[in-house]
Amino acid sequence: MAEHTQLIDAIDIRTAVRAYDAEPIDDDTARQLAMTLDAVNTLAGLHMQLLCDKPDVFAEANASGHLKHAANLIAIVGPANDTEAKERAGFYAERVVLAATLRGLGTLWVAGSWDREAAAKHCRIARGEELYLGVVIGYPEHHAEHLSKSFEELAEYQRTHRPTKSFEQFTAGMSDAARAAAPDWFRAGVEAAMKAPSAMNRQPITFTYNPNADTAAAHIDTTAGDEHWALNDLGIAKLHFQIGAGQGDWAWGDGGLFLHK
Ligand SMILES: Cc1cc2nc3c(=O)[nH]c(=O)nc-3n(C[C@H](O)[C@H](O)[C@H](O)COP(=O)(O)O)c2cc1C
Repeated sequence: MAEHTQLIDAIDIRTAVRAYDAEPIDDDTARQLAMTLDAVNTLAGLHMQLLCDKPDVFAEANASGHLKHAANLIAIVGPANDTEAKERAGFYAERVVLAATLRGLGTLWVAGSWDREAAAKHCRIARGEELYLGVVIGYPEHHAEHLSKSFEELAEYQRTHRPTKSFEQFTAGMSDAARAAAPDWFRAGVEAAMKAPSAMNRQPITFTYNPNADTAAAHIDTTAGDEHWALNDLGIAKLHFQIGAGQGDWAWGDGGLFLHK
């Protein structure tokens, strides 16, 4: 996988990992992850923390077989009652997920398959902050074998391992003619967002392209049944879109615009 070092490569091979090797994350990797989190926290206005060797957080999910050997966590802590911070959490934590993917680590966003209270006890949560969500992190089960797989094998698995809404559903607000006339960067952005994780795979975000302004917009589809985590999933989808589209920046918020550079 040596030649595949870009974030778009991570998007092409990332999948939710629910079974891990029992091995702890090695010290060097843990240190690098913690440093990445510190840097991203400064940009994001968040307080994400790496918690290693905390299997009590996943005792039930591991015992039921839903997860295997889950023991490490990125705890996503941020300002309480702040909708924009929740969107930023999705955007920036997914950025860390993609960096971890390139290092051969597996990840799983968790809203339900963890003991939130046990996780909160291990975190530093300042006054005015709350614990939003977690991301399990660790070496995927049989990871030596996993590392020997080719990029193409991993990408094929990503493309086929779960259902996805179609490009047309992701651009439900556009006509066929508008889709055909949209620039390549828009299509590439949407295709990267189609590979994004979302709570219960609800894929609650749609995109539109405005030819007059040459901008894209991202919208929460309130019929998708993802009301609890829609802001987080909006942030995740925007990050994937931005990486797929190449250069450009988003404005935060439902309906926020993307300016391609
Ligand atoms: C906010 C959020 C919460 C999630 N919570 C859980 C969870 O509690 N348990 C679980 O097994 N998967 C959870 N997932 C993982 C999704 O089920 C998964 O991302 C989705 O099915 C798409 O699959 P993929 O990540 O392999 O592309 C969550 C994902 C997100 C984004």
